[in-house]
Amino acid sequence: MAKIIDGRAVSANVKAEVAREAQALKAQGVAPGLAVVIVGDDPASRVYVNNKKKACELVGFLSEEYAMPASTTQAELMELVHKLNQDKKINGILVQLPLPKHLDEKAVIEAIDPVKDVDAFHASNVGKIMIGDYHFLPCTPAGVMELLKSENIEINGKECVVIGRSNIVGKPMAMLLLHQNGTVTICHSRTQNLKETCSRADILVAAVGIPKFVKADMVKEGAVVIDVGMDRDENGKLCGDVDFAQVEPKASYITPVPGGVGPMTIAMLMKNTLMAAKIQNGLT
Ligand code: GUN
Repeated sequence: MAKIIDGRAVSANVKAEVAREAQALKAQGVAPGLAVVIVGDDPASRVYVNNKKKACELVGFLSEEYAMPASTTQAELMELVHKLNQDKKINGILVQLPLPKHLDEKAVIEAIDPVKDVDAFHASNVGKIMIGDYHFLPCTPAGVMELLKSENIEINGKECVVIGRSNIVGKPMAMLLLHQNGTVTICHSRTQNLKETCSRADILVAAVGIPKFVKADMVKEGAVVIDVGMDRDENGKLCGDVDFAQVEPKASYITPVPGGVGPMTIAMLMKNTLMAAKIQNGLT
């Protein structure tokens, strides 16, 4: 029987700490502000953006939403980013991904001022993460690290396997585990001995985007299993990348979906926005 790691509870603790710090900043005349840009009407993106707005209200940040039609041009979106870069009220800029196909995501990310890049997607922030010298934590991987910390799970010297090599999760996840002295392997769609590799893991992080991809025979007895997936099963029900019913009896710790990693991403975004406000006001 695994211990289920409660992401909602850990997220609430992180947000409460951010709220306390935001209060202290306000006493110094600094009010953290986050701008969230959403282009088009992807329903999942809409849910994420609404949750980000709610979290801002909870921790006492100013939040501005820019909802743009799917027909928005690259020039219009770039103009908005440039305007937000200059806006003194705004400390963090988040452009919700994915963008509609006709827009150049990379150019938009690179246009965000790195000190306002609270997603830590800009190449200069990614580079800083690589060398272990960073202010902004990549939100989802940082959320996973916070969950591990909340249970005092040792990473030092452990076999860590990350399934998925995306820029948003897989690659920065591997880097954060490496910074904590994990022995890290990244698996992906071309990995030949996936089952054997995953079965070696003391800490297994699934970020593939395939419902219930991780089965019991890929998991070592007593492993810590972290599920980053936000998928839909055959009945349209929200599920993760891990087959929870199969894997839970074998794991020592496991995160559920929903209520595991998901709430942490937003909590870490709040932490980054607070950090952005401090940096921009010379308070670090
Ligand atoms: N789409 C899915 N996850 C994320 C995220 O963490 N940040 C942004 N900007 N878009 C996303």
